[in-house]
Amino acid sequence: MTQDELKALVGQAALKYVVAGEIVGVGTGSTVNKFIDALAAMKDRIPGAVSSSNASTERLEALGIRVFDANEVGEIAVYIDGADEIDGGGCMIKGGGAALTREKIVAAQSRRFVCIADESKQVQVLGKFPVPVEVIPMATQRVIRQFAAMGGSARVRLKEGRPLVTDNGQHILDVTGLKIADPLVFESEVSQWPGVVTVGVFAFQKAHVCLLGTDAGVETLVF
Ligand code: A5P
Repeated sequence: MTQDELKALVGQAALKYVVAGEIVGVGTGSTVNKFIDALAAMKDRIPGAVSSSNASTERLEALGIRVFDANEVGEIAVYIDGADEIDGGGCMIKGGGAALTREKIVAAQSRRFVCIADESKQVQVLGKFPVPVEVIPMATQRVIRQFAAMGGSARVRLKEGRPLVTDNGQHILDVTGLKIADPLVFESEVSQWPGVVTVGVFAFQKAHVCLLGTDAGVETLVF
């Protein structure tokens, strides 16, 4: 199967975790796009969704799925999102699509995080994929120096030659050269650096379930 077919497979498989009558939390990315397309088939059985990005909101609304502001709703039953890497404990690197801040917010508001990913995303130790970090622009150079002091190399993510601007009006650093043996410690530490909005390590908001697309079908990992 192609990577695209594996994404479609897990996007479809995630439907069974959507609770009828309840708002669903929706992530961002190419795998989630497959989920959103599949969700259209059950749109009459849910009140709507809370979205983690402008891109997902547009796609949901185009399919006739109502999007609620996170502040309009209480606890969300389930959050469905992809990952750039997922380790054996359900901790993830996220933010390849620059939506990490809202993803972490919606994940934190949800009882259960169901990660959907193709098997290329599974790793032993997080850190091969560059860690996305959303930063307030005036702190960029200092945060880059803080990563250098821990052995990482951080670069500003560009779009058409200029710093990419997130849905929240901030910039993204992509950090290479890190081996994140203890994701909880890493997330706690970096989250406290002044100017860091969100670090793309999801250990506090880790996945409870991962639907992994493999050539043999969907493997369900429970953490
Ligand atoms: C978006 O900011 C990310 O966290 C995505 O969830 C992650 O990059 C996975 O994206 P794909 O499904 O496109 O691989």
